[in-house]
Amino acid sequence: MPPASPPKTYRVKSFGCQMNVYDGERMAELLDAQGISPAADGEQADLVVLNTCHIREKASEKVYSDIGRIGKDWSRKDGSAPLIAVAGCVAQAEGEEIMARAPAVSMVVGPQAYHRLPGMIADAVDGRRSVDTDMPAQTKFAALPARRKVAPGAFLTVQEGCDKFCTYCVVPYTRGAEISRPFSDLTDEARRLVDAGAREITLLGQNVNAWRDADGRGLEMLIEVLAAMPELARIRYTTSHPNDMTDGLIAAHRDIDKLMPFLHLPVQAGNDRVLKAMNRSHTADSYLRVLDKVRAARPDIALSGDFIVGFPGETDAEFEDTIKLVDRVGYAQCFSFKYSPRPGTPAAAMDNQIAAAVMDKRLQRLQAAINAGQLAFNTASVGKRCEVLVERRGKLEGQWLGKSPWLQSVHFAGDAAIGDLVEVELIEAGGNSLSGRLIGKTPRPDHPGQGALAVQQNQ
Ligand code: SAH
Ligand code: SF4
Ligand code: F3S
Repeated sequence: MPPASPPKTYRVKSFGCQMNVYDGERMAELLDAQGISPAADGEQADLVVLNTCHIREKASEKVYSDIGRIGKDWSRKDGSAPLIAVAGCVAQAEGEEIMARAPAVSMVVGPQAYHRLPGMIADAVDGRRSVDTDMPAQTKFAALPARRKVAPGAFLTVQEGCDKFCTYCVVPYTRGAEISRPFSDLTDEARRLVDAGAREITLLGQNVNAWRDADGRGLEMLIEVLAAMPELARIRYTTSHPNDMTDGLIAAHRDIDKLMPFLHLPVQAGNDRVLKAMNRSHTADSYLRVLDKVRAARPDIALSGDFIVGFPGETDAEFEDTIKLVDRVGYAQCFSFKYSPRPGTPAAAMDNQIAAAVMDKRLQRLQAAINAGQLAFNTASVGKRCEVLVERRGKLEGQWLGKSPWLQSVHFAGDAAIGDLVEVELIEAGGNSLSGRLIGKTPRPDHPGQGALAVQQNQ
């Protein structure tokens, strides 16, 4: 690799889950602190970071086609190619392989090592390629610059890694063992996010509800402390595991108004034999009992889940149990996937892998059931008044887009700005969004004389 001039501009492209989005934001802040600026829209960057996802085959193969495209489409005015860094979970899983397969890549950095990017960039400028997939005991967080510019809805990673080892899943290998970030680091980071303009914080983790402080206190304690920040209007958390859904956290849905009535609780399948083969360590029934408790605590809660169809050995009858579960729960939204064998996972070596055509048919049926449930949930919301956090402009003149407490996308017209909390009446439902009529703005607590912000409940 020939020497290059130090990069002046960068672009970070994140794929996969919200934790990758969070990591992408932090890498961008790290590059800003090095004096490298974000490339303007449509402009070629001197440094491209591909922050990749390894969860399914399609996601992870995409990185190689992207690398090819960057070399072609994004080459700079003088004809030279940008420096390319591959970060994220594919970097962790395939470090050396990427180096061998893609000579255009000069840096490969795992999700626990990206605070070392500046040194790797200096090496790349000198013509040296490097791979860093360490999982150092001293976490990256201490070495990263403080949070700066954020959207009204900000992410905060509180927990990383996974010890659950579901038999289909790469996350325990790409993200490492479960760790909880220290309480005071999180309250500091939340304060900075709020100071930078965040009105909603979503606490993130592969198993976010497994978060514990040094004294063993759970996520509800962190939520309660964050809820005491007057400028912060909303709190969410994702993704949770059914077995870590404690009574304390469930009670927080009843007791803490700022904790939004939404729970993403993946179940994956509705049949107990399949769940056991997946090593999920819960049954369909124990999952439903958790949901019953959550609904008792917060009757209007919107539920969400993840599903995999075509796990090795899944029969038609077993798949029907998934449909039954979906119909019974009445999810507000769901993610559903065809099983994808991942290298090194136990399920990839199991007999009875399911044919692609069978998976396609099952996914279609499941998605029809999910879509019907989602439309029913949205339709039942029509007529309610609720607060919407305005996130961006809509396509039409004077139109705004934001999220309801139940994480529905809502569009409305009228006088508003990004970051406002407005009250709307929901007037029409579609499968993926609702339209609302603007009623008024909720005053910001930081505006003198306007009193404390009360997040309206819609029980
Ligand atoms: N920690 C979360 C999410 C993990 S990844 C949890 O335990 O629920 C997000 C989703 O991707 C999973 O919930 C699962 O539905 C899906 N997934 C994971 N591995 C997969 C695989 N090998 N094939 C298809 N979908 C998969
Ligand atoms: Fe993957 Fe299971 Fe861990 Fe979720 S709980 S990240 S699906 S191993
Ligand atoms: Fe993908 Fe890694 Fe997230 S594999 S889903 S980016 S934890």
